Amino acid sequence: PTSDAYRAVDAYLSETLVGHDPALEAAVADQDAAGLPSIEVAPVNGKLLHLLARMSGARRVLEIGTLGAYSTIWLARGLPPDGRVVTIEAEPANAAVARANLERAGERGRVEVIEGRAADVLPTLAGGEPFDLVFIDADKESNTIYLDWAARLGRPGTVVVVDNIGRSGDVADPDTIDPRVVGTRAGLAMLGDDPRFDATALQTLDRKGWDGVAIALVTDAAS
Ligand code: DHB
Ligand code: MG
Repeated sequence: PTSDAYRAVDAYLSETLVGHDPALEAAVADQDAAGLPSIEVAPVNGKLLHLLARMSGARRVLEIGTLGAYSTIWLARGLPPDGRVVTIEAEPANAAVARANLERAGERGRVEVIEGRAADVLPTLAGGEPFDLVFIDADKESNTIYLDWAARLGRPGTVVVVDNIGRSGDVADPDTIDPRVVGTRAGLAMLGDDPRFDATALQTLDRKGWDGVAIALVTDAAS
């Protein structure tokens, strides 16, 4: 399809199924005003995360890559009153925008924004209650590290979602040298081969273009 055609379908689906929300729209506006890249998940994908949290009965969510907290707000809203989101952001300027957006959305109290490189922060989370859902949306080069921690910090039954698994088709190129695509492919190979995961993936066409999302379940092999 042409980009006009799939953008029209994305706008139609967003309008029909997602609708409008002041706090989410203000979060995107402030993120843009602060000069952060407009790479937050599309509204239909934000709602997918939200529904996955609800469908899985998640109480504890781990997000790797906060950006301006657009997806974080969606996830937090899918949790019961005693739920908690831990979200990790490497860029302090992004974390500041995220905290303000969470505050306005009324979710600051149950979302912990941890600043730092996820590869450094994740080991510090070991030993706590397991996470029920993990959303991986940070530097793609590190996806296998993040998946390993998702299995370790989760439990059998934990839902794992990985963003950006399509990359405009580049993901199907075995000769790619783009480190982000290499990292994405390594993560997908791990989801296919590592017995701790049972996974699938869907391509997406939305306002961000042609991309996709992988969805995995942590298996009994992780216990
Ligand atoms: C990029 C990163 C993302 O997480 C995304 O959803 C889209 C683009 C990027 O780094 O280009
Ligand atoms: Mg992403």
